Amino acid sequence: MVTRASPADPYFKKSISVRIQRRQLELDVAQDLFSGHDLDAGTRLLLRSLATPEHERRLRVLDLGSGYGPLGLGLKLLNPAREVEMVDRDALAVEYSHRNAERNRMSGVDVHAGLGWSGVRGRELDLVASNLPAKAGDRAIRHFLLDGSAHLKPGGMVAVVVIARLHELVEGILVPEAGVEVVHRQRAAGYSVFHYGFSSEGPLAAPSSGDGTRDPLGVYERANLELAFDDIRYGLRTVYSLPEFDTLAYHTRLMASQLLDGRRRPRRVLVFNPGQGHLPVLIGRAFSPDRITLAGRDLLSLANAGANLAGNGYPAERVLLRHQTAILPADMEGGDLLVAVLRDGQPNAITEHELRSALAMLRTPGRVILGGSSTAVTRLESRLGGIGPLRIIARKRNRGHSVLEAGAQLS
Ligand SMILES: C[S@@+](CC[C@H](N)C(=O)[O-])C[C@H]1O[C@@H](n2cnc3c(N)ncnc32)[C@H](O)[C@@H]1O
Repeated sequence: MVTRASPADPYFKKSISVRIQRRQLELDVAQDLFSGHDLDAGTRLLLRSLATPEHERRLRVLDLGSGYGPLGLGLKLLNPAREVEMVDRDALAVEYSHRNAERNRMSGVDVHAGLGWSGVRGRELDLVASNLPAKAGDRAIRHFLLDGSAHLKPGGMVAVVVIARLHELVEGILVPEAGVEVVHRQRAAGYSVFHYGFSSEGPLAAPSSGDGTRDPLGVYERANLELAFDDIRYGLRTVYSLPEFDTLAYHTRLMASQLLDGRRRPRRVLVFNPGQGHLPVLIGRAFSPDRITLAGRDLLSLANAGANLAGNGYPAERVLLRHQTAILPADMEGGDLLVAVLRDGQPNAITEHELRSALAMLRTPGRVILGGSSTAVTRLESRLGGIGPLRIIARKRNRGHSVLEAGAQLS
């Protein structure tokens, strides 16, 4: 493994060099992406299981949940004639898969954002490879495993790796009654690899949610909650792998009370990192602004928060979704309220850069409400002075979480 110094991208962590069958794959890895320290042992095991002559003829390949790209690009390295599609829900993963395809001068690689099978474009696939997201919830795992049969060629194969804890669950899903034939099983050092195909009659058991297109979020559902904040009642569908699935975090409570604190109605709101959707829904219910833009890296969060806004009566045509790693100035244009949840792992330079761009487009007078762990908020606060014409209006803390309100001053 080789590490080189960081270029300008603040997400960049290091470069690693992976040896696959006497060939080298160079991969840039980002902070905050799966397996940022080195190639995951499960990914390595799965790649090895596919690096045999019998699989070489499999030319149409999908990497479902690509991360920074080791599976899809590793398979491309093994046979450059392959056409590879790579899908991930995380905009940063999509950026890094794309960048790594370029770094290795690979063409014929289609990288894009998507949620499970509902995001997959490819048909007649020969091979699907996935290191399954372990925290996705049982129904999502079932969806990943079974709902792709219509995308496969006859004779097409799915190859997955899971952590040992999920072995029994996967064994229970990949059964003949589901129209599945497992052709290879391997257990090693905390991981299980399965290779399997679908019988020509197709799945016999009901798939997890049809093909995931009618209600693409259904397979991720964790709970349906009835909640209240102050006098606002709202319903919220929560999903796996995002926090705040049963209660509001302290920083969300602080941010909500700051937002609702007897202020004027905002007209255009940007919520960055909307999570399950608690804050956008409260804003929608309290103020019914003309527009709510939801922006962030995680497509599941954006889609779920958007669906929760609609579920609480906020008109869908007034919601904009922006799936991206940063706040772009255009998202904030004419906006008078920016609400941003600071992610703990996010480098300071990124938050600062985002705020700078957003503030350049914030209407005056306008409000900025930032929340997160007290550490993240304090780190940012110390740099706010240099960011723009901001005046700190309030700073509150509760149990290690903080909210900060700043106002853009009239010039
Ligand atoms: C275990 S990581 C594997 C990453 C990469 N393939 C590797 O081997 O290093 C799972 C990846 O799936 C992505 N993911 C999780 N749920 C997803 C979903 N519903 N749709 C698309 N991608 C998803 C995550 O963002 C993450 O990058």
